[in-house]
Amino acid sequence: MPDAAATPPAVRPRVLSGIQPTADSYHLGNYLGAVRNWADLQSVQPDGTSYEPFFFIADQHAITVEQDPKVLRRRTLVAAAQLLAAGVDPERSAIFLQSHLPEHAQLGWVMQCLTSFGEARRMTQFKDKSAKGGEGSSSVGLFAYPMLMAADILLYRPAYVPVGEDQRQHLELTRDLAQRFNSRYKKTFRLPEPYILKETAKIYDLQEPTAKMSKSASSPNGLIDMLDDPTVSAKKIRSAVTDSEAEVRFDEVAKPGVSNLLRIFSALSGVSIEKLEADYAGKGYGVFKSDLADVVVDVVTPFRARTHELLDDRTELDGVLARGAERARAVASKTLADVYDRVGFVPPFTV
Ligand code: AMP
Ligand code: TRP
Repeated sequence: MPDAAATPPAVRPRVLSGIQPTADSYHLGNYLGAVRNWADLQSVQPDGTSYEPFFFIADQHAITVEQDPKVLRRRTLVAAAQLLAAGVDPERSAIFLQSHLPEHAQLGWVMQCLTSFGEARRMTQFKDKSAKGGEGSSSVGLFAYPMLMAADILLYRPAYVPVGEDQRQHLELTRDLAQRFNSRYKKTFRLPEPYILKETAKIYDLQEPTAKMSKSASSPNGLIDMLDDPTVSAKKIRSAVTDSEAEVRFDEVAKPGVSNLLRIFSALSGVSIEKLEADYAGKGYGVFKSDLADVVVDVVTPFRARTHELLDDRTELDGVLARGAERARAVASKTLADVYDRVGFVPPFTV
């Protein structure tokens, strides 16, 4: 019989992701499209895999555009509290703030030196974000953002990086940089796979259901903020745009509004879209929306209470972030030491 103590522990593939603290509350799209998936990745997956998760708040990414320091600090803590409220569990995941790990910026510099100007210029997010004020007035940080993101990832040698479709190009750059470093110096980095969240996880604006739900929505009624007053969110659901039929049926092309509500209903309740269609057959939109409003209230009410509880007494949150940073540092400092050695830096002298 094998000696249990001699059996090596199963190596769990790592997953890593980050989210920027750029709003006072996550919206329903962030919650269903990102944060709640993170919580799901902590459980044993249907194929039996269990992951070792690392999740962080990308506060250093946030300052690529101007931020009010007080607002940034508040939003960073609110973001971290919301991760916990969404079920990201500090026992199972390392939860930390990017700026607590200087290794990110340190490896970021090495990544910048590995990236060509042309390569960085091809990043579509830079093109989009710099288009507004003009490239000339964008920060160098905004230009270098994908290299910091590459560092965020490569430090932890994750197998998978769960991100939205908009981050796919940055993931590809990360893989190219990892490959380049490995071949120029020595195999150091694992090439991470994107774990692109399913298109079905995309939530649309309640008033303009062909546009993604986003904090830059044209009308506040199109957006559900997770920390908003639940009665306000319920009202927004009840006044969501539908269509002139009265049939609760999933059809993204002909019925984008109803389809979006079905998707939200299904994601929040765990009831399949087919079952919801059957349940609401012949019932009209009023009952359907009112039931969905109740489901939303049931989810956001405890979410909001837990977030406020964590922010009102910071002991628990600060402890979580301290322990998360410690776990992250154990991995990140080792990778950075390997990198510094391989690029030819002289190790620090001790006297
Ligand atoms: P952002 O607020 O755009 O920085 O996005 C933060 C995270 O939330 C990313 O992982 C996005 O993919 C995800 N996300 C943002 N908006 C939506 C949406 N409307 N539906 C689903 N996921 C979203
Ligand atoms: N760029 C990501 C976003 O805006 C956030 C992010 C920063 C990230 N570093 C990361 C995501 C590393 C995954 C891995 O959504």
